[in-house]
Amino acid sequence: MAHEDKSSLPLGKGSDQDGILSIRDWSSWHDEYEKEGSELHLRKSGVQNNIADIVDQSPPGPITIVSICGGQCREVIGALENHPRCADIRGRLVELDPENAAFASAWAKQVGLDNLEIFNGDASLTASYQGLPPVDIVVISGVFGHIDDTDRKRLIGFVRQLVRKNGFVVWTSHSLGGGKAEEVRQHFRNFSFNEDDHAVLPGKFGFTVTRSSYTGEPIAFEPDSTLFSFGSSRRDPTETAHRFSAIDDPSA
Ligand SMILES: C[S@@+](CC[C@H](N)C(=O)[O-])C[C@H]1O[C@@H](n2cnc3c(N)ncnc32)[C@H](O)[C@@H]1O
Repeated sequence: MAHEDKSSLPLGKGSDQDGILSIRDWSSWHDEYEKEGSELHLRKSGVQNNIADIVDQSPPGPITIVSICGGQCREVIGALENHPRCADIRGRLVELDPENAAFASAWAKQVGLDNLEIFNGDASLTASYQGLPPVDIVVISGVFGHIDDTDRKRLIGFVRQLVRKNGFVVWTSHSLGGGKAEEVRQHFRNFSFNEDDHAVLPGKFGFTVTRSSYTGEPIAFEPDSTLFSFGSSRRDPTETAHRFSAIDDPSA
């Protein structure tokens, strides 16, 4: 659905606690995210292409997708709203902001993604994923730049509890100011993920979009853990995120 067609949907918030680009109003956020050629638009397209490719190649039957801190679900719904496998999609978007969740919920209903649950809750709690594993595709977009290295490792380690063997993770990071993309890639390798595809996008943030697949054995689901504190990267002086001004937030 072109963004103009979304005018009947409830407006999502233009920012989260740490900012999606730290833009404070819907139209600015929207302009940046939907603007052809903008870095965020390229990132979103990269994530969407990976999701659509994986779905294209999936065997017949249900395909389970989880989006961690899914925002307005633009990557997932945007990739699948007109996809021939639309009816096979199920899963959960976990998003804290009620307006973003309302937007995603209305959009999912509008395009017939009836089994994609939009959960307005805390993605840092493993309880939010109860009942989902084994999942085919986990989407982590715009998260790793906002959490510190301890949290990144905890989150990637937890993905092994969510995803099926040979299932996929589509994730983003950024390369600005020595951003942590290389470290995050290494964490995935250390946790038995194969890197199937990796792209560094043009532009000052050097957003990366990576597709990884889990080669290890399934790990038992632990429903009572906390995975991250969104914004923790800003409290760590060794991270790059704290140096960005409100305008320059990489929203990685
Ligand atoms: C940078 S945005 C990324 C959104 C989307 N994944 C994307 O790539 O466009 C980060 C999102 O995380 C959400 N968020 C922050 N803390 C969260 C939490 N603890 N649980 C769920 N969502 C959270 C924010 O509301 C925001 O929508």
